[in-house]
Amino acid sequence: MQLLDGKATSEQLKAEIAEKVAAIKAANGKVPHLAAVIVGNDGGSHTYVNNKVLTCEQLGFDSTLIALPEDTSEADLLQKVDELNNNDEIDGFIVQVPLPKHIDENKITEAISPDKDVDGFHPENLGRMMLGLPTYISATPNGILELLKRNGIKTSGKHCVVVGRSNIVGTPMSILMSRNAEPGNCTVTMVHSRTQNMQEICASADILIVAIGKPEFIKADMVKPGAVVIDVGTTRVPDTSKPKGFALKGDVDFEGIKDKCSFITPVPGGVGPMTIASLMQNTLLAQERRAEAENNN
Ligand code: GUN
Repeated sequence: MQLLDGKATSEQLKAEIAEKVAAIKAANGKVPHLAAVIVGNDGGSHTYVNNKVLTCEQLGFDSTLIALPEDTSEADLLQKVDELNNNDEIDGFIVQVPLPKHIDENKITEAISPDKDVDGFHPENLGRMMLGLPTYISATPNGILELLKRNGIKTSGKHCVVVGRSNIVGTPMSILMSRNAEPGNCTVTMVHSRTQNMQEICASADILIVAIGKPEFIKADMVKPGAVVIDVGTTRVPDTSKPKGFALKGDVDFEGIKDKCSFITPVPGGVGPMTIASLMQNTLLAQERRAEAENNN
């Protein structure tokens, strides 16, 4: 088994981004600016968003963190989105999900300007992704593609099984892996909570991508010998032996599977760091596109 080290791979990618940012700054004094909006007190979400903001600082980006209380109304959040859409200082922004239950996530996503939607969640950007047109590809699926590419994993003609059909990982991932592209060109099967023969289908995967948020759901009998296993799960599980009182668990039984597969991502240190690097890549792209649009005017 070889570890797919997302931390090391993301460091490479971040170094490349930082170099580009330094060159742009030297040329015109501008740097990419990402804003992140978070609503409520979920500890995991705050950690992710803080890591995103911290990475901005590391790479020489500007960042703005907007933390709103749990009882923020949908109307007030829509107003904030509108402000960010119209703020010329901001190249791109994200609204961290999940949002509190009284806010309609789809309404918020649709309100974000597609040009500033560096999460790639807006229907226009998802549609462009499906058609293979230039767009922002969502950070987690794009991070997984980069991880496969940068570690020399061939995907063409392989059977890829995607476990989970979320809008932000499973569904876009299944489309990207089936596209006529490298990485891509897979025969893709998507499985979910209603799937019959889950074990059999997973065990036939050359590439198994799991994003369901169920700790250690994938056991050794669900993995084909020599498979590439990508674990997107990061669930906080109470653990009194840890300083923070919890351990992060993936969707895959790492210990049970590691000797059976060819490659596997650890949790933490696998997909998570690639997601953040990929968001930075999209924010740099947003700045480059804006500069190009301004030059053409
Ligand atoms: N929640 C979990 N992953 C993500 C992500 O990539 N973007 C946003 N906005 N929220 C998330």
